Amino acid sequence: MRLDFSLVAVAVLSLSTVVQPSAQETRPGGADAGIERRIDALVERMTLEEKLGQMSQGGWAPDFDLKEAESGIIGSLTNADDPAAIAKIQAAARRSRLGIPILMTHNVIHGFRTLFPVPIGMAASFDPALVRETARWAGRESAAVGLHWTLAPMVDISRDPRWGRVVEGAGEDVFLGSMMAAAQVTGLREGGIIASLKHYVGYGAAEAGRDYNSTSIPPVELRDIYLPPFHAGIAAGGATIMAAFNALNGTPATANRWTLDQVLKREWGFDGFVISDWDSIIELMKHGVAGSRAEAAEKALMAGVDVDMAGELFRDELPALVKAGRVPMARIDDAVRRVLRVKFRLGLFDRPDPDPAAADAQLLTPAAREAARRAARETIVLLRNDGDLLPLAPKAKRIALVGGAAADPSDHMGSWGAAARQGDTVTTLAALQARASAGGYALTYARGCADDCTSTEGFDEAVQRASEADLVIAVLGEPWYMTAEGTSRTRLGLPNRQQELLERLVATGKPVVLVVFAGRPMALTWAAEHVPAILYAWAPGTEGGNGIADLLFGDASPSARLPMTMPRAVGQIPVYYDHLPTGRPATDDRYSSRYIDEENAPLYPFGYGLSYTRFAYSDVAITAPKPDREGVLEVAVTVANTGARAGKDVVQLYVRDLVASRSRPIRQLKAFDKVALAPGESRRVTLRVPIDRLGFHAEEGGYQVEPGRFEVYLGGDSRAPMVGGFELPTGVDYPGAPPVRLD
Ligand code: BGC
Repeated sequence: MRLDFSLVAVAVLSLSTVVQPSAQETRPGGADAGIERRIDALVERMTLEEKLGQMSQGGWAPDFDLKEAESGIIGSLTNADDPAAIAKIQAAARRSRLGIPILMTHNVIHGFRTLFPVPIGMAASFDPALVRETARWAGRESAAVGLHWTLAPMVDISRDPRWGRVVEGAGEDVFLGSMMAAAQVTGLREGGIIASLKHYVGYGAAEAGRDYNSTSIPPVELRDIYLPPFHAGIAAGGATIMAAFNALNGTPATANRWTLDQVLKREWGFDGFVISDWDSIIELMKHGVAGSRAEAAEKALMAGVDVDMAGELFRDELPALVKAGRVPMARIDDAVRRVLRVKFRLGLFDRPDPDPAAADAQLLTPAAREAARRAARETIVLLRNDGDLLPLAPKAKRIALVGGAAADPSDHMGSWGAAARQGDTVTTLAALQARASAGGYALTYARGCADDCTSTEGFDEAVQRASEADLVIAVLGEPWYMTAEGTSRTRLGLPNRQQELLERLVATGKPVVLVVFAGRPMALTWAAEHVPAILYAWAPGTEGGNGIADLLFGDASPSARLPMTMPRAVGQIPVYYDHLPTGRPATDDRYSSRYIDEENAPLYPFGYGLSYTRFAYSDVAITAPKPDREGVLEVAVTVANTGARAGKDVVQLYVRDLVASRSRPIRQLKAFDKVALAPGESRRVTLRVPIDRLGFHAEEGGYQVEPGRFEVYLGGDSRAPMVGGFELPTGVDYPGAPPVRLD
């Protein structure tokens, strides 16, 4: 399992120049004549070997040979996170014949040294401004050590929680996913590094949720659901794209000329570069579309892959293919130009490299920690709170904390930890201990079992502690290594013996608060019926323990919402809110679209999450969009905090196109706003939907908003009630779907 959870100490640190490429510099089509001229001049001087070097990525290891950098045979390098090592390698690259700097990259997925909640958690914040801010921190810390580029964000839409990589994305919804893609790319750029949107495309629809498996997605669905987050990310300045491992409709994504060349490069005008995924070029042989290494290299290159991530195939195979006339030099030059364009736009040729000695001061700063703590609070979803058990009442003086994860920094950090360290992480145990001593609580801790919970040895002790307490906090769920790449599951309950432990704790009769660590929605059907309070904490990051404690003790009210439907049973999967209607909607009738052994409804719907306060909506006013390209649907509503605590509501607007030329989803999220309200406060909120968000792609191509009736639903989750509708007298056609942009 290559989970890249490096806990490598950052020994010598640096103050780097923070790069802020302007929107103009990184916008597709925003070609800069000066840069293009410099590229021409450079390409003219390059040997084939040097060109192929730019098209090959190296991997850092302690025994990395500086000659690779000095001889110009790698254009980029992954996985170095030590500023001194990075500086040395960069200096070697600058000594190469043409002095082309190396693009330094890493998997900075949810932070570099300071970890923020994992991406699925960040999506649960429903707060693009916060996501942008945390990405900015990730970018700043990365830039400080000499990195330029992250292999993130993952913008794969997924409706299948069996797929372990849902932890790296924004969940099931195309609009939320597009907003999160744009927010991350923008924040990373503001922090000083560029993003690589991945995995292009359809990887999140792996059949049966099994990683790397094939996907079958009709082209219109691909355009309506899976492509828009990439488009939004590119519009926000995403500089590179990573091709996926999966086969899409029979053609591996890494050899897919239609998605890579036609859609991405021609239709969208993307002029950055496409990188393969790890070994995804050579795997074309295993996919059965290439009979040799040479054929694999040729297919990937000619489909549109510009850089070989694993490094050797392009270098080894392309010289002979060029010689034999199978690969035109023009295509090689195009790939090289794309790489150089990204480097020039970043200013790599013109600015000094960061001083490695100055990095330390920029890592894990108090301000970054504060942002991480705030982010943790904003991403934890309150699923259940019977009898307002939470926040903890002062009378619950004796608290029994149970669960291996509570004391395990890795579970708080989550997978893809970049350069984060366990010792910097505030665990739930540490945070609650600090609270307990300050607040006069008696806190006891019994592990019960380790985070994987394969043994029941500690159960009796944990149950004993629980029986002696006023309240039990059980921290259970998926250990960090059960989420991310290569972690598909067929069962979505609590792993191993955890369910047994939970049932024994509940059987003590003491009130139990369940805090769940997870990288995906799990099917916690028993807990949803028997445990009075459930906080879904994902992997909350470096300040995760503090964030959890803040919510448990009521310093803040939970405000996150599920970015993915939580199933009752694995058999319901794929279960997602914006499905198409059927000819036989579910009724009591046997011959309707339903199960005979389970409800259709999920355990918790998309967009769902509770608060410690209550919100009420009134005076909804709908203004229909003008039926032209500038039209905007406006829905205004008064939101009131009718409870006794401050809180944040996520107002969600869903729209349904009632009758169209193609069946349309029963509703789709079109806008949302997170609103902070003091007790008794109310505010007029206006949600705006540009009319182009109301359209869809036609089978024969093209994108249009069709005339007719649209229904509007407004509320706190995807079951929001209908509040009215509007009529579009005429339709609006677009040459292509415009990308979603941050407001
Ligand atoms: C993953 C990518 C990752 C790459 C480099 C691959 O296995 O699919 O998401 O960026 O490894 O570490």
